[in-house]
Amino acid sequence: MSEVFDLYSPLIDADPFPYYAQLRDHHPCYWSPKAQIWILSRYEDISRAAQDWETYSSSQGNLIDEIPGRAGATLGTTDPPRHDRLRGLSQAAFMRRNLDSTIAPVLEIADRSIDAILQMRRFDFVEHYSSQITVGLLFRTLGLPMRDHNEIRRKVILAVSTDKETKGRTQEHLDAFAYISEFLTEEVTKRRAEPRDDLITHLAEAEIDGDRLSEREIVMTTATFVMAGVESLSSFMSIFALNLHDHADARRRLVADLSLIPSAIEESLRYNTSAQRFKRTLMKDVTLHGQTMKAGDKVILAYGSANRDERKFPNPDVYDINRKPQGHLGFGAGKHFCLGSQMARLVTEIASKRFLEKIPDFHLTSSDLKWNSSSNFRSPVELPFEIG
Ligand code: HEM
Repeated sequence: MSEVFDLYSPLIDADPFPYYAQLRDHHPCYWSPKAQIWILSRYEDISRAAQDWETYSSSQGNLIDEIPGRAGATLGTTDPPRHDRLRGLSQAAFMRRNLDSTIAPVLEIADRSIDAILQMRRFDFVEHYSSQITVGLLFRTLGLPMRDHNEIRRKVILAVSTDKETKGRTQEHLDAFAYISEFLTEEVTKRRAEPRDDLITHLAEAEIDGDRLSEREIVMTTATFVMAGVESLSSFMSIFALNLHDHADARRRLVADLSLIPSAIEESLRYNTSAQRFKRTLMKDVTLHGQTMKAGDKVILAYGSANRDERKFPNPDVYDINRKPQGHLGFGAGKHFCLGSQMARLVTEIASKRFLEKIPDFHLTSSDLKWNSSSNFRSPVELPFEIG
């Protein structure tokens, strides 16, 4: 049988949704011979699996093509009790920063970027807006010295990319992750010697019952924040802009009433998000839809497919900003529910509001969008827009 869902196909990077529908309807528990992994695609199965960490373990990594050294060292790649410890300490550090303190830097970067865009008129939303905001904000929050935003974004995208030919990571991908972790190790070492009021210092100082994060844990947690903040958030903001481009009625309604933005963001998290699929490893045999998955097998939870499951969301392929999609899995579920969800919602809201206020109308200058190659994430390489 030919591959129903080829993780390494550019067609899936560009538009996974028709393939998800095939899986949900005909192969809800699908064994991919090429990738040697199971794929779950229905909402109910994925939601249940995401809650059941004892069966569906993250301890061998949650990236489909895992980066060596990451499994067991980060929030997303551990199970309780280790996960609860890392999550508690990370949350304690995260909570020391008031979410409101995010607003001023986002507005400042947004205004500066929009001024530049108004001059250019033709611009790349990814390079000139979403990356500026997310890399700028993340670097300030973590207290990192400014580096070229695009360089950092390129490294992060490379670190989470997969190669079509080798069906995994190349040396270039591994070097990109090594670059990020070396840079962060230097910063963590400096911050331990000289504490400041930033998230890296707060991670180093976080303490619960005398327990603290080790230097390596701080580096890996910071790397997770950089990768999630840059890849998931900037790609989500870009896809949100694309959704508003493709659905002009929705965009006009938002421009007329900016208070509708949060519900449009929620619908975009359901409809078409950046974090499409994550991996688990089975701790025991599970039989689903007549298929037996064995202990030790790898399983993909295709959150992006669950969010388009007609068994859960009526007319799932319609982008409806009034929908209020309760229970969508755009941020996952269970123990590994996204730690940055509130921050991601807030940053997208502020940045989009500012953008639509100043640039209510924009159109794509190319109909041939290119998508990054990744087994987990979905992100446009660029979004070439023109004002008007
Ligand atoms: C719109 C943007 C974002 C999306 C769509 C997103 C999505 C997700 C998803 C689906 C997961 C679950 C992974 C799994 O099941 O294995 C997750 C986990 C996580 N996210 Fe996000 N994320 C976003 C932004 C952020 C930001 C800005 C941060 C922090 C700066 C962040 C930090 C994390 C962390 C630390 C985890 C792991 C949590 C755990 O395992 O306990 N995310 N995210």
